[in-house]
Amino acid sequence: MTPDVPVPRGLFRHSRTGTSGVFVTGTGTEVGKTVVAAVLARTLAAEGKRVAVFKPAVTGLDEAADGPIRQGDLDVSAHRRPDHVLLREAAGSEQSDEEIAPYRYGPPMSPHLAAELAGEEIDRERLLAAARAAADGADALVCEGVGGLLVPLATDYLVRDLAVDLGLRLVVAATPGLGTINHTLLTLEAARSAGLEVGFVVLTPWPEVPNPIEESNRETIATLGEVRVETLQRLDLADPPSWPRLPAPLPLG
Ligand SMILES: Nc1ncnc2c1ncn2[C@@H]1O[C@H](COP(=O)(O)OP(=O)(O)O)[C@@H](O)[C@H]1O
Ligand SMILES: [Mg+2]
Repeated sequence: MTPDVPVPRGLFRHSRTGTSGVFVTGTGTEVGKTVVAAVLARTLAAEGKRVAVFKPAVTGLDEAADGPIRQGDLDVSAHRRPDHVLLREAAGSEQSDEEIAPYRYGPPMSPHLAAELAGEEIDRERLLAAARAAADGADALVCEGVGGLLVPLATDYLVRDLAVDLGLRLVVAATPGLGTINHTLLTLEAARSAGLEVGFVVLTPWPEVPNPIEESNRETIATLGEVRVETLQRLDLADPPSWPRLPAPLPLG
């Protein structure tokens, strides 16, 4: 499961899909990968790029929202929309569900288990073909992983292996608060040990007034992880025009 070919530096010309791209991973599940990937997609689209999005497998569709969910005065359904739907909207893409996420499952569990319960296996070649097809004709590909880097897509094929196969540089989503130093440094180590390059870490949602722990986490991760650290404020996910752009340079090569 280690890469047999060094990962190229410049994704713009050398990504294995033939298209500029980025792979958004995170320190785990529910840490902001989709939000960060959506903001990246929107940032690239706002630059005039045709952006394609890709998500190898979506699980938990049983819990996804297909209508408004009210919390007081607020419609929070945007937080419960399936990842591929949010990514498509952010990118302004016209890809079908199937083109964005070739494997889609109802139960909220690891993709390898969700696939097994559905009586199938996630297939590496099918994933790579789907990623290439998604990238075809696009200027940039934004791929969101599933869970963290060591999540199995199949018993012998981890999310990390897919990132290596695609030859994409990583963006790592992480939470700002207690526990994030360990989770983020572990993720950086897992990435680098497989030859993956990390563009930057994004701490999300970054509070308007960060407390001393959050400020310190940001600095500690940058120093100990020898990595660029960005922050992303809390967004109204239902209102993409109000989102900020992630600062350049984006790790696309
Ligand atoms: N910057 C942000 N603004 C608003 N909500 C955020 C932000 N970052 C994370 N969240 C919230 O955190 C939760 C997990 O985010 P999500 O992107 O779905 O995580 P993941 O893709 O890693 O599972 C969601 O409810 C999302 O709304
Ligand atoms: Mg997600």
